[in-house]
Amino acid sequence: MADRYLNFTGTAPGRFLTSRLGLPQPAPLRRWSAEHPALDGPLLQLTAGTSTLKGLDEVLSRTGLTTATTTTGAERPAAVVLDATGVADVDGLAEVHAALHPVVRSVASGGRIVVLGAEPSAEDHHQAAVQQGLEGFVRSLGKEAGRGRTVTLVRLVRTESAAAAESTLRFLLSPKSAYVSGQVVEVTDAAVEPGAVDRERPLAGRTALVTGAARGIGASVAETLARDGAHVVALDVPSAEDELTRLAERLGGTALPLDITADDAGERIAAAVSGDLGGLDVLVHNAGITRDRKLANMPAERWSPVLEVNLAAVLRTTDALLAAGALNRNGRIVATASIAGIAGNVGQTNYAASKAGIIGLVRSLAPRALAEHGVTVNAVAPGFIETKMTAAVPLFIREAGRRMNSLAQGGLPVDVAETTAWFADPGSGGVNGQVVRVCGQSLLGA
Ligand SMILES: NC(=O)c1ccc[n+]([C@@H]2O[C@H](COP(=O)([O-])OP(=O)(O)OC[C@H]3O[C@@H](n4cnc5c(N)ncnc54)[C@H](O)[C@@H]3O)[C@@H](O)[C@H]2O)c1
Repeated sequence: MADRYLNFTGTAPGRFLTSRLGLPQPAPLRRWSAEHPALDGPLLQLTAGTSTLKGLDEVLSRTGLTTATTTTGAERPAAVVLDATGVADVDGLAEVHAALHPVVRSVASGGRIVVLGAEPSAEDHHQAAVQQGLEGFVRSLGKEAGRGRTVTLVRLVRTESAAAAESTLRFLLSPKSAYVSGQVVEVTDAAVEPGAVDRERPLAGRTALVTGAARGIGASVAETLARDGAHVVALDVPSAEDELTRLAERLGGTALPLDITADDAGERIAAAVSGDLGGLDVLVHNAGITRDRKLANMPAERWSPVLEVNLAAVLRTTDALLAAGALNRNGRIVATASIAGIAGNVGQTNYAASKAGIIGLVRSLAPRALAEHGVTVNAVAPGFIETKMTAAVPLFIREAGRRMNSLAQGGLPVDVAETTAWFADPGSGGVNGQVVRVCGQSLLGA
């Protein structure tokens, strides 16, 4: 369903009229393409406080952007990285203001502001106060930034090495993160060394299984992981076999028609990825359904299938695959939550319970899966994404969903797919237990 308002505000008369009327001003977002893979402009590197972070210059040099430490000349920075890991008191927070206040207006449309922070200390409540303060700062700046600019906080936990944040910075400082804003991501040193990674095709030689791949977000995840080099096993219900087969053929992958609620789904997935495929490296739990009704009107027949598909099947297949050793070391599990699981939503007690359940699963399993299997577990939490699911939403609610976020527009399936690909990257071993909203900083929830 085309976003006509976004198209209208993309024209000069549309921009003039909507700004005169005080209406939202969504800026068209630029996504990644092979012809245009990087942000347009230099990266401005700033520091606040006394930083002990090591290796940031080298990490930033590998983003492909030209780095400057002062704003010189006419070129607007396409990205600003502020190292605030050494900020430990209120004076240090004033340095954050002093660093960004003069430059924030000059950041290019569609630009990125990334603040690097440290873990709030359990021993030093002054440091903890101001490091937590960065969260409020970043979320507020995200709401102010406008013109498609995004703002995120990357927290380095138990590490002073910027290398821990490399895959995350490459993602955030690229067009791939166009719809990710107002987020806080924690990174630490990887527990498992990834070995040599081909930057153009980081998933080359790896096998990824995507559930619910026949359409919508799942199809986009399958395409994006295949672009990154993975052999994709595309799973969906048997009634979607035709679409599934076409997708798998196009991507050079494998179709697996299977209902994930089947008792033996885990065993069948394990069998499908054994042998030549060499086991599973990336497991993406994307399949999901809604059966909306207010709780007072919701019979068990509408409650159960949602919990069964969105949560019980995810728990069961994850357990079965880990127990069978079907997930390779340095493997990745990416589950799909939703902002409904964070903020709640009228008519969605079943759906929100299932999606909040995914967040609980991720937070509990992540440390153990890493310690016992060398596998990370993270979740994407999409906001309003333009798919068949949201096209079916009544017009007024759909318009509200599109506009009620800092970027004043809906996201695209590819935005969720790119975030999934960042989690799936063999270099993202230090990203574990994270729930990242792909929501343009939706006004719903935190
Ligand atoms: N579209 C959004 O705005 C949005 C927002 C938040 C979360 N999400 C979540 O993202 C995921 C994908 O959403 P979408 O919008 O692409 O949905 P969609 O309805 O377009 O696609 C979901 C796919 O999952 C498949 N599926 C359903 N039950 C299955 C089962 N038992 N076994 C195997 N496959 C099954 C469907 O056949 C379908 O192809 C879901 O988990 C959804 O809850 C979507």
